[in-house]
Amino acid sequence: VTAENEMKWDTVEPSRGNFNFGPGDQIANQAASHGQKLRGHTLVWHSQLPGWVQSISDANTLRSVMNNHITQTMAHYRGKVYAWDVVNEAFADGSTQHRPPVFQNVLGNGFIEEAFRTARSADGSAKLCYNDYNIEDWNAAKTQGVYSMVRDFKSRGVPIDCVGFQGHFGSGGPPSSFQTTLSNFAALGVDVQITELDIAGAPTTGYTNAVRACMNVSRCTGITVWGVRDTDSWRASSTPLLFDGNGNKKPAYFAVLSALGG
Ligand code: XIL
Repeated sequence: VTAENEMKWDTVEPSRGNFNFGPGDQIANQAASHGQKLRGHTLVWHSQLPGWVQSISDANTLRSVMNNHITQTMAHYRGKVYAWDVVNEAFADGSTQHRPPVFQNVLGNGFIEEAFRTARSADGSAKLCYNDYNIEDWNAAKTQGVYSMVRDFKSRGVPIDCVGFQGHFGSGGPPSSFQTTLSNFAALGVDVQITELDIAGAPTTGYTNAVRACMNVSRCTGITVWGVRDTDSWRASSTPLLFDGNGNKKPAYFAVLSALGG
C-alpha cells in the first residue's frame, strides 16, 4: 500500500515545525490491520511542497528544514513503513542532471546524498529508495543520470537500498528495454520496484510486459498500481487501471494475474 497524497510534505508539515500525521495514520492503520506492507511516499520532492519551503533561499535554513522533515516523519512511521521514497523525481526530463528548484538551487548537488544519510540515521531498518518516472528506458538520458548516481552512491557507501520506477506508461506500455534497465540497476546492488504503475487504456499486452519484466529480475521486489478504480485515478480519462469505475475487474486484471503465475 502507498498513500497517494497523504504522506507528502504539504499534508505532513503544512507550516514549519507543525506536523500533521492524521491522514497518513489512517492509511497506515488500515494497512496494519490488514497485514499489508506500507511504502512511504515521499520525503523530499519539489512538487506538493508547501510555499514556505519553496521560498527558502538560505542553504543552512533549507538544510535544517529538510533534515528535520525527514527525521520527524521517519521517526513517526518507524516500524510501520518498510520502504521510503526518500527523494522523488529529482532528475530533469530528457537530461542527466538534477532539476533546479528548490533543493538543487539552494543546496547544490549534494542534497540527495544528504537526504539519504539523514534517512538512514532516522530509521536504520527502512529500505531507502530513489523514485522517478521516465527512467524505464535504458537508452534515455534521465535513466543514465539516475544510474550514475546510484553507482556512485554504492561505490562511496552512501546508503541507498532501492530504486522505484514509477511506470506511468502510454498505451504502448513499458519500453522494450525495461527489463534490461531493471537488471542493470539490480546489478548495482539495489532492489528495484515498479511503484506507480498505470497504463493508458489498460492494454493487456502492456500490463503483461510490465509484470514480466519485474518477475524476470530476482531483485524486483514490488509492483504497485497507482490506484484501484479508473474513476479514482489521477489519469481517470485514460482509464489506466485494473478495475473500472464500478469496481469490476478489467481484462488487464486477468492479464496481470496470469503474468504473476495465476
Ligand atoms: C499524484 C496523485 O496521484 C494525484 O492525486 C495528485 O494530485 C498529484 O500527484 N508521481 C508521483 C506521485 O510520485 O506522487 C504522483 O501522484 C503521480 C506522479
